[in-house]
Amino acid sequence: MKKNILVGVTSGIAIYKSLDLVSMLVKAGYEVNVVMTENATKLINPLIFETISQNKVYSDVFERDMDSEVKHIKLAKEADCFVIAPLTANTMAKLTYGIADNLITNIALAHTKKMILVPAMNVNMYENPITQKNIKTLSERHIVLSPDYGRLACGDYGKGKFPKAEKIFEEIESYFVKKDLLGKNILIGNGATVEDIDPVRYISNYSSGKMGNELALCAKRRGANVKVVCGKVSSDYKNFGIEYIDVKTNEEMFNSLKENFEETDILIMPAAPVDFKVKNKKDFKIKKTSKYENIELEDNIDILKTIAKDKKSQYVVGFAAETNSVKDYAISKLENKNLDMIVANDISVKDRGFGSDFNKVSIITKDSEVETELLTKREIADKILDAILEKIC
Ligand code: CTP
Repeated sequence: MKKNILVGVTSGIAIYKSLDLVSMLVKAGYEVNVVMTENATKLINPLIFETISQNKVYSDVFERDMDSEVKHIKLAKEADCFVIAPLTANTMAKLTYGIADNLITNIALAHTKKMILVPAMNVNMYENPITQKNIKTLSERHIVLSPDYGRLACGDYGKGKFPKAEKIFEEIESYFVKKDLLGKNILIGNGATVEDIDPVRYISNYSSGKMGNELALCAKRRGANVKVVCGKVSSDYKNFGIEYIDVKTNEEMFNSLKENFEETDILIMPAAPVDFKVKNKKDFKIKKTSKYENIELEDNIDILKTIAKDKKSQYVVGFAAETNSVKDYAISKLENKNLDMIVANDISVKDRGFGSDFNKVSIITKDSEVETELLTKREIADKILDAILEKIC
C-alpha cells in the first residue's frame, strides 16, 4: 500500500524549495498531503501545493470539511511519516515546548511517531543558543536534519540553508527501512583506480562505481555506519551522510582500506583496481613528436587478497566480473583471496554489469550459492546485504 507522507510547511523563505520535495514524493508513488501555517499561505498560494500534491491543502484547525472527524487527529493518525520542511525557529520552539496554536503544531502533538524536521533559517537564528537547545531537545525524539552551509536569502553566509530536496527525500525513504544493520561498521572499496602514464594520461577501466554506491546507500538506510574508499566513479551519493575517502591509485586504496580495516565488521569490495601499473611512468607530458617508447607495465598490488590474508573477525566480500567460466573463476577467487563471500556476474551480457543500472549475480560462499534475477543494482545491493546478514547472525 502507498505510504502516506504529511508535509508540514512553515513560513521560511525556503518554502518554494519544498515544492520540489512534494513533487519528488508524488513521482515516487507516495500519497502526499500538505499542511501549511497561515503565514506560509501568505508566501505561497496553497493552490500550488494542492496541484502538485493532488490533494487539498489544510491550514486552519477550525475549518470543518473533513467528514465528522477532528481534522488534526485524523491527519496525525493517517500520516506514516510527518515531515516539517521548512521548519522555522518559531515553529521549532513551539514543538519543543508542546505549544499547539495552529494546525501543524496540533498535528505534531497528536502524531505518535518520530517526525523528520528540516530547519532552515538565518545563520544567527540557527546558531542562537536557544535554537541549538531546542534542536538538542527535539533530536532526542525526532530526526532533525542539519541545514546546509552557504549563501542565505538575507545575503549572509553560514549554516541555515534548506538542504537539497534529494537529501530530504533520501531521509524519508530511509525512514521506512528496517534497521537490521544498526551499529555495524561497513567498509566499501569502490570505483576504478587510476595509474598514471604521465601527468595527462592514465590506465584505468570502465567501472562506474554504481554497485558500490548502491551498497553504501542501502547499508546506510539499514542503519550501518558506512565508509567508502572511493576511486574514479561516475555516480555519487556524497550528500547522504556516508563518509567518503577519495583515492586514486591502488596503493592509495590499499593504504586507506588497511587503515580502516581493524574497526570494520564487514568489508565489501566491488572496486575495480587496476592490475598493472606503469613502470616507466613519466613526470612530464610525453610529446607526440617524441620518439615512440613502449609503456612498460608491472604487477600492481592485489588489494583484497593482501587485506583479507590478515582478517580476524571481519566478514569479507569480493566481486568477480567475468566474461567466461564465471562460477569457476569466482570460486577460485573466493579461495585464493581468503574471502567469506564472492558476488559473481557475467559481463559479456549487454543488459547488465559495467555502467548499467541492472545486474544479475550469483552470491557464493563456501557452502551456499544463490542466483538472483535480473534486478536493479539497488535491489542487488539489498540481496547482498541480506545474504551477509544471514551469514553473520
Ligand atoms: N581486486 C583487488 N585488487 C586488484 C584486483 C582485484 O582488490 N588488484 C579485488 C576486486 O575489487 C574484486 C576481486 O578482487 O573484489 C576480484 O577482482 P577481479 O578483477 O575479478 O579479479 P582479479 O583478481 O583482478 O583477477 P583477473 O583480473 O585475472 O580476473
